[in-house]
Amino acid sequence: MDKAILFGDACTYALRKGPRLSLFSEFKKLHWMYRNRMDALIEEDYTCYEGIMANVEDTFGIDLTEKQILEIGCGQLYPQAHALAQKNEVHGIDLDIVLYNWSPILIAKLLLNNGIKRTLKTTIRKLLFDGEYKSKLSKRYGGDLVKKPQFYRMNGEDLTFDDDYFDFIFSVTVFEHIEDVDKCVSEIKRVLKPDGVFSIDINLFTGITGGHNLYGKHPAETQIPPWDHLRQGLYPTNVYLNKLLLDDYKRIFRKHFSEVQFIENESTQFKDLLTDEIRQELSDYSEHELLLDMVTVQGKKTVAEPVDQQQLEFHKTGI
Ligand SMILES: C[S@@+](CC[C@H](N)C(=O)[O-])C[C@H]1O[C@@H](n2cnc3c(N)ncnc32)[C@H](O)[C@@H]1O
Repeated sequence: MDKAILFGDACTYALRKGPRLSLFSEFKKLHWMYRNRMDALIEEDYTCYEGIMANVEDTFGIDLTEKQILEIGCGQLYPQAHALAQKNEVHGIDLDIVLYNWSPILIAKLLLNNGIKRTLKTTIRKLLFDGEYKSKLSKRYGGDLVKKPQFYRMNGEDLTFDDDYFDFIFSVTVFEHIEDVDKCVSEIKRVLKPDGVFSIDINLFTGITGGHNLYGKHPAETQIPPWDHLRQGLYPTNVYLNKLLLDDYKRIFRKHFSEVQFIENESTQFKDLLTDEIRQELSDYSEHELLLDMVTVQGKKTVAEPVDQQQLEFHKTGI
């Protein structure tokens, strides 16, 4: 099952824009998700990590050891960054303060940055659930996750890292929340080393999970009509979504990178929910867009071909 389905809106940064939910209903959702989906979530996070490793190591032939790595939008759990940090220098950035340990300074920063309600949510969640999640995750990775990434509160649209610093940049279900994706992609290009690579997983707005209102449930388990966010919008989400389409992402990434590919695997599990009636109602979208929940964008910052000196001489002298 897709990570977006499992994780839903339970990520901690919610409530930036859009309708507000009570702390109690936030907790009910969080509690439900961890109680019912913790093992599945860990499996998903591990599969995502394996996918990232395969993308980078097989597709680009890069060994992810002793490399400089950046995760954009690492969230409070940062499972892939945590695993990669065991053998690499990993930096995780997020708009939210990441509560990576119980330091009073960090909690004070969290309070200042996120306000009392979200601080309460993050701390209680960490207290009640994250310990179990981390210990199960460590087991799944086959060892203790001893080293942690370095965390910064930073916007992906405005990175404060030096040019040409990272070998690898990745991001998981974050780009659909970024306001200026073009700016973020240009920043990725700036901070990647020549020949550096990236792998970005995006939960597409047009997919059935793109409305971010399923809270970890399969649509059939809820009252939410399939693709409600593209139809009546009866169950709006409480997180900001940029609503970009697949073609928007293609245009943006191709503007900045000449070597880029889009891995588009449709979710067959939702095909039955796309009835003729819904298909007709959503005729502005292709069937592929409606059945595509996640896209992985991967690419490389290519170095300009070195100028061939003999060719240069030939052109200069004309012989
Ligand atoms: C759905 S959560 C995903 C968290 C994590 N990547 C995961 O897969 O568990 C999205 C995260 O992206 C962060 N985020 C959203 N916009 C961002 C931006 N412009 N720059 C950095 N982080 C951002 C949010 O604060 C949130 O933690």
